[in-house]
Amino acid sequence: MTYLYNKTALVTGASSGIGYEIVKYISQFDMRIIVSARREENLKKLKDEIESNSKSTVLILIKDLSDPKSPQEIYNYCKEKNLSIDFLVNNAGYGFTEDFDTYDLEKLDDFLNVLMNSLVKLTRLFIQDMKVRKSGKILQVSSIAGIIPSGSGAIGIYGNIKNFVNEFTITLNSTYKKHNVHTCALCPGFTETGFNKRAGFKMQYSDVPSLFLMSGKDVAKQGVDACLNGKEIFVVRGGFNRTMIFISKFIPNKILRFLFGKAVDFGK
Ligand SMILES: NC(=O)c1ccc[n+]([C@@H]2O[C@H](COP(=O)([O-])OP(=O)(O)OC[C@H]3O[C@@H](n4cnc5c(N)ncnc54)[C@H](OP(=O)(O)O)[C@@H]3O)[C@@H](O)[C@H]2O)c1
Repeated sequence: MTYLYNKTALVTGASSGIGYEIVKYISQFDMRIIVSARREENLKKLKDEIESNSKSTVLILIKDLSDPKSPQEIYNYCKEKNLSIDFLVNNAGYGFTEDFDTYDLEKLDDFLNVLMNSLVKLTRLFIQDMKVRKSGKILQVSSIAGIIPSGSGAIGIYGNIKNFVNEFTITLNSTYKKHNVHTCALCPGFTETGFNKRAGFKMQYSDVPSLFLMSGKDVAKQGVDACLNGKEIFVVRGGFNRTMIFISKFIPNKILRFLFGKAVDFGK
């Protein structure tokens, strides 16, 4: 756990949910933490909270990751400020519930930029320096939707991208392990954050049996610890997550897709 002490982290999507909790969790290690997202008010609140309760310092960087130029701008900002990133957390993301075939193309572009392209670009930009320094850790916030076939509509496509994130993680480790750079894909299940509202689900978290639901705080702690402990694809414990993965091994994918598709339709 000592790896993070006095080091520098960059966390995307830090303005709410899992990202917000990751920043709070790592602040115990006297770090410099660059927090990025679009909602400045939330990031200011986070900065105040961290700086009055820990020895960590927080730098706010407002960036919209749907803009394809943002990853390079984030990297340039770090370079200008002489900040070497020791811990990169690619967390920003969202889902959508509209039908894929009528989903606006510009909105689709934004979605792909936030959920996938920015993650790949930020990894590419920061891993070059980690490789030279022979030290670095990357936490990719993925999902169990990247492991279990997750429906046939929009959430299915979200799952396809998270599946790519998991495979990308394995590729990175096979390439950069020898340079002492480790990447972990964190796979949470249903977690109480701003995700549902942003995706357009009408179902409230209070409608979900607590057995299925995790808190962002628990997910954040488990995810950071897993990354520091060298885990590659880490499925969050609790919230029925691992049981779902286990059960899914005995059910044909076609049936799983049908069942998850129905569950998503029910939540819309
Ligand atoms: N909640 C779940 O059940 C669940 C399960 C598995 C995986 N995940 C994954 O967990 C990650 C975090 O989501 P969450 O559940 O914590 O949801 P959340 O509370 O809605 O947080 C999403 C974060 O992503 C940021 N973001 C969204 N669009 C952005 C954009 N265009 N540019 C920059 N930042 C943007 C948001 O910041 P701004 O809006 O301020 O820009 C926010 O900080 C996502 O990758 C999600 O796929 C969530």
